[in-house]
Amino acid sequence: MERTLNWNDFFEAALQDKAAASGLRVQGGQVDTADSSWIDFGSNDYLGLRKHPQVLGTSRLLSPLGSGASPVLSGHTSIHQEVEKLLAALSGSSRSMVFSSGFSCNTGVIAALAQAEDLILSDQLNHASLIDGSRLSKAKVHIYRHLDVESVAMYLRQHRHEFRKCLLVTESVFSMDGDIAPLTELSTVCEKYDCGLVVDEAHATGIYGPKGGGLTEELSLQEKVLCKLGTLSKAIGSVGGFVSGSKSCVHYLINHCRSYIFSTAPSPSVMHGVLAALKLLPGMEQERLKLRSASRQLRAELEQQGWQCSAQDLLATATDPDSPIIPVVVGSAERALHLSRQLLQEKIHVPAIRPPTVPEGSCRLRLSLSVRHTQRDFAKLISVMARITDA
Ligand SMILES: Cc1ncc(COP(=O)(O)O)c(C=O)c1O
Repeated sequence: MERTLNWNDFFEAALQDKAAASGLRVQGGQVDTADSSWIDFGSNDYLGLRKHPQVLGTSRLLSPLGSGASPVLSGHTSIHQEVEKLLAALSGSSRSMVFSSGFSCNTGVIAALAQAEDLILSDQLNHASLIDGSRLSKAKVHIYRHLDVESVAMYLRQHRHEFRKCLLVTESVFSMDGDIAPLTELSTVCEKYDCGLVVDEAHATGIYGPKGGGLTEELSLQEKVLCKLGTLSKAIGSVGGFVSGSKSCVHYLINHCRSYIFSTAPSPSVMHGVLAALKLLPGMEQERLKLRSASRQLRAELEQQGWQCSAQDLLATATDPDSPIIPVVVGSAERALHLSRQLLQEKIHVPAIRPPTVPEGSCRLRLSLSVRHTQRDFAKLISVMARITDA
């Protein structure tokens, strides 16, 4: 019989392996948020709505903290309905439903949409929540090369007939690369092969589109997607997730999505803050433009200093990104940690991103920009980046 393993020995051995491979993760804590001299490039509060007075004012315990039950029991209240109405309008869809987190929304929705006889095409760099949802679904999962529409078309041409339903799952702005999916081309291929397009707009909501509806709004593709996934925890500045789609799609999900049915509905108090943020979103065009222009400027300055601001395997056809996520790809986990520590010494927080979040050898400093950053913050970052070293 195999030697039995004591739990503590298992934990310690796993932690040692992890430390040796890519360094251990730690919980937040490195930035003193009360000290305003810190510059934080680690938060996804792109539009500064997390601390917006109108958002804070409305969310302060106007209603119960907890919803008390699943949305399919008594947890779904009028404030959830109001939020869902605005999210549906923002997505150009008939209906939306809200979840307590973007992660639980993604895993639950993908798992509910596909079954064992189905096919899921998934971009190589999709977020963990999309990967886990695909695995939970029991469908055949084909992972395609990042952004590669040609390889998607070829796979569908050869294999579409072997499956009952087919789903293509992609982020619109990729969370660790800040680059942009070729959604127009993907939607054409999906239409041709009767494949439902599911787009995760976690990092595009609020940033792209005339009303902040994301890249699907910017590219007028809202009617082409089967459903759109999003989070309330990034540009919307709160916490939670959502899916938008047709009436029948959302009705189906209310009845089949396990992470929705078997989980308590989001906090009504939080939903008040979300509602206030959603009302502000369409009027934030100046902020969107400012953020995208700051992204272009910072990328150009970092590249001038010799930093590599995209992963090496980007296709030549990829769109020039102007999203608020800038990856500074530095190679090894050790190097990324070393550079991040030097920035911390200068009171600049830029997280070092390592496997399994990104592929081995493409560790990076991930800069998240916010409209709250000033030109002075960028100037300080650029001047420190010019002098940090590998030694
Ligand atoms: C692309 C993407 N989808 C989904 C999520 C999950 O969202 P949440 O943090 O709201 O659970 C994230 C979060 O990092 C993400 O980057």
